[in-house]
Parts: sequence; C-alpha cells; structure tokens
Amino acid sequence: MLREMADVSVWPEPDVPPPYEVIVQAARESEGLLCLLTDRIDVGLMDAAAGRLRVVSNCAVGYDNIDVPAATARGIMVCNTPGVLTETTADLAWSLIMSAGRRIVEGDRYLRAGKWKSWSPQLMLGQDIHAATLGIIGFGRIGQAVARRARGFGMEVLYSDPVRQVEPEKSVGALFVALPDLLRRSDFVSIHAPLTPETRHMIGEKELALMKPTAVLVNTARGPMVDEGALAEALRKKRIFAAGLDVFEAEPLPQDSPLLNLENVVLLPHIGSASVATRTRMARMAAENLVAGLSGQRPPYLVNEEVLAL
Ligand code: DGY
Repeated sequence: MLREMADVSVWPEPDVPPPYEVIVQAARESEGLLCLLTDRIDVGLMDAAAGRLRVVSNCAVGYDNIDVPAATARGIMVCNTPGVLTETTADLAWSLIMSAGRRIVEGDRYLRAGKWKSWSPQLMLGQDIHAATLGIIGFGRIGQAVARRARGFGMEVLYSDPVRQVEPEKSVGALFVALPDLLRRSDFVSIHAPLTPETRHMIGEKELALMKPTAVLVNTARGPMVDEGALAEALRKKRIFAAGLDVFEAEPLPQDSPLLNLENVVLLPHIGSASVATRTRMARMAAENLVAGLSGQRPPYLVNEEVLAL
C-alpha cells in the first residue's frame, strides 16, 4: 500500500528496533513515519525533521512513545490502531488470569523438571476463577472485553475509571467503585488504562497492601503503571498470591529483574495483540492511516484531531 504512493524505506531488522539516531535521520528525509511502540518520537526528533514530517502512524493502540502535544504544536498528525486488537488483548489478559491463578506455567516447569512424584492433595493449589470477583482498572474497549468474558465464569465484576461508563456498565453487569475499594474486594485485578503522567505507578506499595493475600494482579496495558520493585517485593513476601505480566517498566525485561527469580509470576514478552490476524489488521490500519494523511485526507484513526484546525 505504501509503496504504491511513496518512496519507502524499511528498517531491515524485525527483532531489533532502530536506534534513535536512525529514526531521527529517517524523519529528516520523510513526510511520514510508520513506527512501533519501541520507537521514541519526541520533540528532539520532530525538531530535527524541521517541518518536513507530516504524519506519524503508530502500529499500536497505545501511543505513550509519542509526544502528542509536541506533534500537534508542529502540525504533525499522530495516528494509532484502536479497536482491532481489543478482543485479542482481552484473550491474553484472560490467559494470564487463568495461568497465574491456577499456576499453569509453574506446574509445567515443575513437571518438566522431573519433580512430579505423585498426585497429591496439596499439589499446586491455586485460586478459583469461577464465582470470584474481578476488578478492572480502566473500563475502555479492552477492559470491557475482559469484563464480558467474566460472565461465562459467573464472576462479580468491579471497575474503576476516571469516568463512569453507564451504558457499558449495564450491558456487562459491572459495578463502578473507587480504586481502593476495587483493590480491597477483588480476587483478580486486571489493568487496562492508558499510560499517562497520572497513571504512572498507580499500583505501588500502598495499593498492593490493600489487595487480598489470595489476589492476583494482571497487567497487559503498560509496565510503568505498576511499581515493579514494589510488586516483586509483594510477590516475594506473598503479600499477594500471584501476578501475570505482559508489560514491564523496561522492555525487554532486564535479566537482573527480581521478577525472574519468583515462581508466583507469569512473565510474557509483550504479546497482548500478537495473533496472526490481529497483527495483520494493525499493520494494514497503520498503513491506511499513513496513506490518508499523506494524501491530504483525514486519517481514519487520528489521535490529535486539533491538528486539523491549525
Ligand atoms: C498496543 O497496541 O498498544 C499494544 O501494546 C501492542 O499491541
């Protein structure tokens, strides 16, 4: 799609992000950038692009890697890929709820290590998911999709969000509560809010202390929303039962992270939207956004509408 309308240069290494300087150089020479959440698109880069860059299309729904106010101030359109990854990410949040709650990965490691000697009444005891209480932090598209799945398990669903979501709340049968209340009452807590200055470290030592000792924390949103040091400590001291994490404060997770030494946490390499169909749709959508923006049309998924009024 892009090659039909522009000269395209593609970073050749799929598993290693381009260094910042390489993106800056590309931005200098380009009117459009199709980037990933591993690419930092900041003021320095935009200024280096010196007025040429018009569209930044992120192949992700989250866009905390892009300084959107700076882009808007420079007349640069910022686009993302909402909607297409909702159900796939909700599926993965559920994989973590179930695998952390029922010790699936730990059980697999145990068996492979040759430690399984006999069926035993106390072997690998986990937490029930059916009829438990699920607390959802951030009741947007993905949070609601996670809540819908909870109906099949007969769960009570609580949610917290800066804005009460009256219609979706009714359709999935969820209860709007304040965050401390949600943390106190939930057996499973799943995070689905965007990363902003307000949500950074929204789950720290104080919040973890409110959770039940049997509770499980799941994060498929953005790592910096959880104070990872405080979480590792809470898991180590068994102040909460377990965690399931697809995102981290630093990605890839540093090899000296204390999380790596804990049995009661399931760790995934940021694969929330990683199904063949969804990643294909995201790539197409990111290209469509870029083509529209470069052709002088309104991109279908424009983050900073205000830029059109400039
Ligand atoms: C996103 O889109 O923001 C995810 O983190 C990757 O799919």
